[in-house]
Amino acid sequence: MPNTGSSSNNLPATPEVGLPLWLLAELTYRCPLQCPYCSNPLDFAAQGQELSTEQWFRVMAEAREMGAAQLGFSGGEPLVRQDLAELIGEGRRLGYYTNLITSGIGLTEQKIAAFKEAGLDHIQISFQASDEQVNNLLAGSKKAFAQKLDMARAVKAHGYPMVLNFVTHRHNIDKIDRIIELCVALEADFVELATCQFYGWAHLNRVGLLPTRAQLERAERITNEYRAKLQAAGNPCKLIFVTPDYYEERPKACMNGWGSVFLTVTPDGTALPCHGARQLPVQFPNVREHSMQHIWYDSFGFNRFRGYDWMPEPCRSCDEKEKDFGGCRCQAFMLTGDASNADPVCAKSAEHGIILKAREDAEHAHQTIDELTFRNERNSRVIVRS
Ligand code: FES
Repeated sequence: MPNTGSSSNNLPATPEVGLPLWLLAELTYRCPLQCPYCSNPLDFAAQGQELSTEQWFRVMAEAREMGAAQLGFSGGEPLVRQDLAELIGEGRRLGYYTNLITSGIGLTEQKIAAFKEAGLDHIQISFQASDEQVNNLLAGSKKAFAQKLDMARAVKAHGYPMVLNFVTHRHNIDKIDRIIELCVALEADFVELATCQFYGWAHLNRVGLLPTRAQLERAERITNEYRAKLQAAGNPCKLIFVTPDYYEERPKACMNGWGSVFLTVTPDGTALPCHGARQLPVQFPNVREHSMQHIWYDSFGFNRFRGYDWMPEPCRSCDEKEKDFGGCRCQAFMLTGDASNADPVCAKSAEHGIILKAREDAEHAHQTIDELTFRNERNSRVIVRS
């Protein structure tokens, strides 16, 4: 798409639109677990019918033709889709690098073998904690932890790198050493220690999940110590520590900029520039009605926050706007009620006090795990009705 103009400081108002390199296929909102930090929308139980296998085939083919290279299968729990191996096979046939993002619940040795046969490139298994009891409490399933351990080992036995993801928060971050020890014992290759990001159910439960600054700093220090130890021992395990932006003074360049690389298709076919955008008061297109070409280049939703022209102050005249694009639109909406505001994480935002207050609240929070609102159909329906 050509540039369409210049803003006052000579940045193009609408920069050339990039390719949708990353296609995230959220195959379903169904999930056997009920993590209280799930990023799925609160009203997931009221969403429409899931796309069929053939509809996904079309989405994948059109996006691939437009330059998409990475294909992630997520959910909900993608394993509940009976056609997952077929979808993987089609992804491989089209030339994608395919990635399965799963809780491991519902995975079996046979399924791993079938996915391998279909051409799956990469599997990431998420854990809730290093401790069986806490893990199962957070997951809402008594068997979750043992199953995850078995499947992590099975994934590796089938020749995949072992890629583990731990979402950390105030209830498990103090056990970061135990989490890392578990990963080392499992011979993990990559471990993402991702502090909770506050979207969807995590936003609803923020007071009960946000760690204190002291918790976070301790966890980061311990992770760095383990990194050094692992390296000295020649252990190839890579630890990736992701901090929550609530403790930053500048926002993240969310999605690398709106509509620049990421394209998410939700279970009912709504296409979004990020997993959180569904809640915004913006009309987003559906793949049942529009081609991927139209969705990416021409739809209102994908163009709404592209470029720099939509920005009010302080972003408009900020010399860092090319770096962070004003931060996260979904976070700006959730925290200020207006998606075009600067992300309040930014210390230049007039609303940065919201973040300071959240940090302060974290110092005094005392919610137990039992008091969190779990992500399940019943709670989602209650939220829809209210
Ligand atoms: Fe939607 Fe950041 S999650 S723009």
